[in-house]
Amino acid sequence: MIMDGNGRWAKSRGMPRIAGHHQGVEVVREMVKSCGSMGIEYLTLFAFSSENWRRPQTEVRLLMELLKSALENEVKKLHRNNVRLRVIGDLAPFPKRMQKMIVEAEALTAANTSLHLQVAVNYGGRWDMLQATRKVAEAVANGELTPESVDDTVIESYLSTAGAPEPDLFIRTGGESRISNFLLWQLAYSELYFTQTLWPDFNASELRKAVEHFSGRERRFGRTGDQVELAENVSDA
Ligand code: IPE
Ligand code: IPE
Ligand code: MG
Repeated sequence: MIMDGNGRWAKSRGMPRIAGHHQGVEVVREMVKSCGSMGIEYLTLFAFSSENWRRPQTEVRLLMELLKSALENEVKKLHRNNVRLRVIGDLAPFPKRMQKMIVEAEALTAANTSLHLQVAVNYGGRWDMLQATRKVAEAVANGELTPESVDDTVIESYLSTAGAPEPDLFIRTGGESRISNFLLWQLAYSELYFTQTLWPDFNASELRKAVEHFSGRERRFGRTGDQVELAENVSDA
């Protein structure tokens, strides 16, 4: 999910942008709950992009504070609810204390078996492919891999989402129809769903609408519709 539209939500109410981000955190809580109860196994949320540093310094600072307090306040609750947390993105620019909190939260929840929650911070799809490429190059340089053995599976094993399935459904709120450097590799065959609803107004019933839209799609993965139907009839029999 690209959680977009917080700023506009606040602005339309004559409130500062950060008020929209605060409301956005409430919606994150609701989504974690709803995904859990709908049986969705993986949820990846775009919280801060590698390009969001370009925003005014005060907004960046407030967003970082919000992230820190969310970590402080929510991890125990996530753990109680059997949620596994993983933070994806380039964590190097964050304070050591925050990096430590993230490592500890991931370790605490590592064995949890309900929702896998991935939060993307300082994340960019190009960054992800770049850091994976570097690791592949290193592995080739030190003889662990041959260039010929590098395939999709190898690349995927170095992406920050390694181990998670490709997303079935991509949702972007806030009315823009773009990917904004989110999961570029991983979204290759995802169904894309865009809604005008601003993130702070997004809720469980909007989520159900998106999932219903997804259920109505035929996923062909390059094949023809007839082939897909045939394969479905065989697996039903
Ligand atoms: C998304 O909402 C949250 C972040 C990018 C952190 P925006 O802050 O982009 O809200 P709009 O798009 O300006 O309304
Ligand atoms: C995408 O939203 C990033 C996040 C939601 C974290 P933006 O608001 O930053 O995207 P653009 O700038 O409109 O493409
Ligand atoms: Mg935006």
